[in-house]
This record gives sequence, C-alpha cells and structure tokens, in this order.
Amino acid sequence: MESLKARIETLTQEIKSIVPANAEELEAYRIRFLGTKGLVRDVFGGMKDVPAEQKKEAGQLLNAFKQLAEAHYESFSHLQQGNAGNASFADFSLPGADIALGTRHPLRIVENKIVEIFERLGFAVAEGPEIEDDWHNFTSLNMPEDHTARDMQDTFYVAQNPDWLLRTHTSSVQARVLEEGKLPVRVICPGRVYRNETISARAHCFFHQCEGLYIDENVSFADLKQTLYAFVTEMFGPDIRVRFRPSYFPFTEPSAEMDISCTVCGGSGCSLCKHTGWVEILGCGMVHPDLLRNFNIDPEKYSGFAFGMGVERITQIRYQVNDLRLYSQNDVRFLRQFTTNT
Ligand code: DAH
Repeated sequence: MESLKARIETLTQEIKSIVPANAEELEAYRIRFLGTKGLVRDVFGGMKDVPAEQKKEAGQLLNAFKQLAEAHYESFSHLQQGNAGNASFADFSLPGADIALGTRHPLRIVENKIVEIFERLGFAVAEGPEIEDDWHNFTSLNMPEDHTARDMQDTFYVAQNPDWLLRTHTSSVQARVLEEGKLPVRVICPGRVYRNETISARAHCFFHQCEGLYIDENVSFADLKQTLYAFVTEMFGPDIRVRFRPSYFPFTEPSAEMDISCTVCGGSGCSLCKHTGWVEILGCGMVHPDLLRNFNIDPEKYSGFAFGMGVERITQIRYQVNDLRLYSQNDVRFLRQFTTNT
C-alpha cells in the first residue's frame, strides 16, 4: 500500500509538471498516461497487491489519480488537431447551426417600390456618379456659381480638384441623361446624395433621392399631375388625395411642391402632418426652357416635366420612422422590423 501511495505521489508530480505545447506533445502525454498500456492502467494493476482491508482506501486514491490525469489532458484539449474536440463527443444527429438570414434595408424596400411603380408607367432606370462636377450638379441646371439656391445645398468638395463635389441631389442625373442627346427621355434615377448638414433626427449628411424626368413633344403639366397621382395611389393606396403648391426650383418653371393627405390621420390632424392634414412628399415642375437649351434641345419642339423625392421621407411616411439617424446606425433590432411585404 505504501509503495502504491508513493508511486501515485511521484506520478502526480510528473503530470503536474507536463505542459504540452502542441498537439503532438499532448498526444504523447495521452499515450503515456491514459493509453491502453498507459501508466494509469498500470498503477490500477497494483490493486491486486493491496491487502483486502486497505482496498477501499486504495480504490479512492486510484480513482482520484485517474481523474487528475484525465482532467490534465482535458485542460489542454484546445491543442487538439483542428481543435475539433474529442471525436466521440460529436453528435451528428443534432440539427445544423442556423444560417442567419438578413432583411432588406427599409430604404431599399421603398426605393425598389418607387422604381417598380415608375417602371410600370414606362420609365427606365438611369444612374449617375456620386462624385459629380459643378456643371452637372449645379451650373447646367440653372444654378450658376453666384445663385442663391446653392446656399441650401452646401456639400463636400474633393480637395484634389475644386470642381469635384459629392452630388447634392439626383437632379445631376438629368444632366447626364440629357447630354446623351437621345429623345424622348423617360427616366427614374434613384441614388445617394450628400449635403453639409449637422446630423440630427431631421437632417443628415447623406440621404437618398429618386429623380424623374420625362421629355417629349407635347408633354404638359396635366401629364405631370396624372403621373404623380398614379404614383402616390400605387404607393399609399387609392384613397390618397393630393394637392400642388406653387414653389421655386431653378431648373423648373412653373415649379410646385406636391402634398398628400396624411396617411396616419387621413386629414384630421396628427403629429406626422403637424396638424395640417397634409404631408409634403416631393418637388416637381416643367423643365425650364433654358435647361433644355443647355443641352441643345429645342424648347419650341420639346417640353417635359421633372420631379425629385426623398426616399427617407417616403419611408418615414410609410413606416412612421421619426429619426433619420436610425437608417445608418446598423442596429439590427431596428432593421429586422421591415419585411418586403409590409
Ligand atoms: N433637386 C431638388 C432637391 O434636391 C428636388 C427636385 C425638385 C427635383 C423639383 C426636381 C424638380 O426634378 O423638378 O431639393
């Protein structure tokens, strides 16, 4: 019994001093102590020489020793090849790990819907660069350098070239399409735009717009009204009422802002419509003859309308989101609430 105790003591010290550094060293340890011809088994073999009245005590000592040897092995299990753990622990009947499916971003859901409605009305998608030059973003659209309308659209300039800037509106795509010189034109232009604004619940330094442009012979203001009315009834439902208020944009004449009856209260007054019953959704107008001339289009022959809407604004009305910052904070608790079907 004493010799058994002494042997366990020596081996315990040895085990504690072994610090395997890699899978091979760990395996060497396993073979030496825990293998079928290993030392743990060998020490258990000593039981037969222990007198009957000491067998119980010896059994306890041996079990404690075995547990220690096994625990020492487990504490280095991270070194095992491929870190796959002990193969005998793999339970292949368990269901696989879930693949987390994302959801579409609310702004993309709404943008897709806008584009889809206008495509059905015969509009094609056109896109332009987010880094624009002064001509396409401002000057060609009747906003020369000293025009006061530029004050409302301060933006970020590219240091490399003072003529380059981050576009302030998707109206720049009008210029890109018109300079191609193919008529008639019937396009919808979705995209990201930028402005030098302090970030708050109601303003951001980047947001999204959808521009529309229709130029052909004999296009009238009645076409503009009917097209936009068709759009809002598709977007918000057949009960929506609209109104046009005179407004000013340098690139259209006459210009208007379009309001829809409030989608939350139906017109009786609530916080979304600021108790007016009406919600502003876009700017529009008949394309200014000077703008057509900038692109060598004869205003005596051709006329057209244009409009521009904020995608965040439409999304806010559709989903009652009241803080613009939510769209770019990447909080999945917010983003998961939107599905393509709502
Ligand atoms: N570009 C304007 C803006 O960013 C929106 C706009 C108004 C676009 C009237 C148009 C338009 O095409 O006709 O505020």
